[in-house]
Amino acid sequence: MKKHLVSASDLTKEDAVLVLDTAKELATISDRPVKKLPTLRGRTVVNLFFEDSTRTRISFEAASKRLSADVINFSAKGSSVSKGESLKDTAQTLQSMGADAVVIRHGSSGAPHLLATRNWIDAVVINAGDGTHEHPTQALLDAYTIRKHLRKNEGDLSGIKVAIVGDILHSRVARSNAILLKTLGATPIMVAPPTLLPVGIENWNGEYSYNLDEILPTVDAVMMLRVQQERMNDAYFPTAREYSRNFGLNAQRLKRMQEHALVLHPGPMNRGMEITAEVADSKNSVVIEQVANGVSVRMAVLYLLLGGSNSEMGENS
Ligand code: CP
Repeated sequence: MKKHLVSASDLTKEDAVLVLDTAKELATISDRPVKKLPTLRGRTVVNLFFEDSTRTRISFEAASKRLSADVINFSAKGSSVSKGESLKDTAQTLQSMGADAVVIRHGSSGAPHLLATRNWIDAVVINAGDGTHEHPTQALLDAYTIRKHLRKNEGDLSGIKVAIVGDILHSRVARSNAILLKTLGATPIMVAPPTLLPVGIENWNGEYSYNLDEILPTVDAVMMLRVQQERMNDAYFPTAREYSRNFGLNAQRLKRMQEHALVLHPGPMNRGMEITAEVADSKNSVVIEQVANGVSVRMAVLYLLLGGSNSEMGENS
């Protein structure tokens, strides 16, 4: 594996399968009375969050603690960033406290790439979501969840079709998933109104469509994306009601999907907008499970990038 995880394209197929297999093994820790391994004892993981997060920040913290790493949580709100401190100075301050890994979420696309390439810090850099660019650990946990249900938790995702639906234009989740799904042999299909598909979508890894109803019966999983109104500075669709009518997943549409098809959502969900409550809570939905799988997958990423040893994987602390 490469030193840093900035983009899903940093992973070869072998790397990605190794992360999923390692996560599968580490998931068994959650069923033990003592949910801890000594693997990263003495190592420090810094969660550097310049943007809000619930799932990603908490799951990286839980993952680090389950591997016995020390965790420093940094949130831009209430820090010296509000006094104008730069990314470089903030990162170097945290490095001086002994960070071995920096998990960074930033509103600017490319911030994790800067940290990883500018030699400001020695630590491993893990992208926890940058602007509208990428969110590679989300794509890994999505792949893990799909593999667990549709491939008995083994191998790659060859032959699986996944519709990624909604606000593709502003979605770092969509980009990372398109890359990783293709790497793992699956076929991603981006589905959105033309205004919410990025220029150059034809060069992305996969197919695209403007017609959700046509695509739904053909796929094994559908990943609904949050409509990111906070990133929209223009009118991308006439009304929320019209968006839901054409691109929302509701009970009628769920009936048109294959019996085994999964419903995913990275969260947070706009219930009633891109997905109805009925579908979000249906038997096809794996939304809650995605969050739990996120801990195992992030444990695997930390373990592999920080050089945990295999002999320690079976031991309790
Ligand atoms: N999926 C995701 O990134 O959620 P959070 O913004 O809550 O971390």
